[in-house]
Amino acid sequence: MPRGRIVLGIESSCDETGAGIVSDGRLLAHVVASSMDEHARFGGVVPEIAARAHLHAFNPVVKEALEQAGLRLSDVDAVAVTTGPGLSGALQVGLAGAKSLAYAAGVPLYGVHHLAGHVAADTLEHGPLPDPCMVLIVSGGHTSLLLVRDLVRDPILHLGDTIDDAAGECFDKAARVFGLPYPGGPAIDRAAQGGNPCAVAFPRPLIGAEDDPYAFSFSGLKTAAARWAEQHRQRGEELPLADGAASLQEAIADVLTRKALAACREYGVRALVAVGGVAANSRVRALAEERCASAGVALRVPPLTLCTDNGAMIAAVGDLLVRADAPPAQLDVSIDPSAPLHYAALHPVDTRSATSRAA
Ligand code: KG4
Ligand code: ZN
Repeated sequence: MPRGRIVLGIESSCDETGAGIVSDGRLLAHVVASSMDEHARFGGVVPEIAARAHLHAFNPVVKEALEQAGLRLSDVDAVAVTTGPGLSGALQVGLAGAKSLAYAAGVPLYGVHHLAGHVAADTLEHGPLPDPCMVLIVSGGHTSLLLVRDLVRDPILHLGDTIDDAAGECFDKAARVFGLPYPGGPAIDRAAQGGNPCAVAFPRPLIGAEDDPYAFSFSGLKTAAARWAEQHRQRGEELPLADGAASLQEAIADVLTRKALAACREYGVRALVAVGGVAANSRVRALAEERCASAGVALRVPPLTLCTDNGAMIAAVGDLLVRADAPPAQLDVSIDPSAPLHYAALHPVDTRSATSRAA
């Protein structure tokens, strides 16, 4: 049996430099270097620091991924890289590195949409995605409900997106006003353990909005969290952090899972895939499990290490594109920092019509 083609994936859209290797849906290597600690004292990612950190981490991370898989660069059959969305300088470093690897190895290069990577991450743990499936993407910059058919062949249908802040952004900004460190999501998750999720009646933004039922909005919730913290401080009281964190987490988890399940019901979809950094949240996971179980919807959530940014998820998309015989990118492909998610490849691919034309 011929061996599957080997795809090296590179991710550098924010503060993680990731390299992963995937072949025929199998994960062979997964290495991530993070510059998160360098940003912590600024309370958020500093783009120039992130770009410089990618430059330092790129070669060691790729080398380690090849070692982990027991492969050499000459064994690699294709390189996939995040070309957007993300921080411009950070994306540039990853793309330049990926181009040079593809050129040196004489193999095709694929430009991948970062969010499609988050979706594909789940296939590395749970196998091919059901067609159709509902995807809830919840990251630091995006919150979307998507109807996904064949991830690399079909257009991705957006049922709803956030109209202001992303769920992760809400976690990060609320954590800041609570005096918790960056990144805020994991800090709130930890602080919430043992807290009372009903202690503070935080709003459930856009629940029940009729004209755009799957749109999200988190900026009001962020403001409510800031006001709650401010009121306690003005009264000279210590912040009841566990209760505030648990209540905020509950509000976010409630809105996300309620809308995701409503969408599954309306579109008759029996599988929900929750991906992105916020899918690592313990309450989001628990509530999604509970609500999916009572609605008879199968829930898929990637393991924690594949939820946050990594190169394996980009390799997973590359591997699907390779197996779909998708045309690769040209070597002069550029980054697209605000790329909308319509296709997994950042150069639209219509292999289905190409196949039917050939037939
Ligand atoms: O997907 P991701 O790693 O990067 C982006 O593409 O944005 O997501 C990062 C976001 C951050 O906002 C971080 O605070 C959040 O995911 N996050 C969490 C948790 N772990 C990461 N939010 C809530 N609970 C967590 N356990
Ligand atoms: Zn991400």
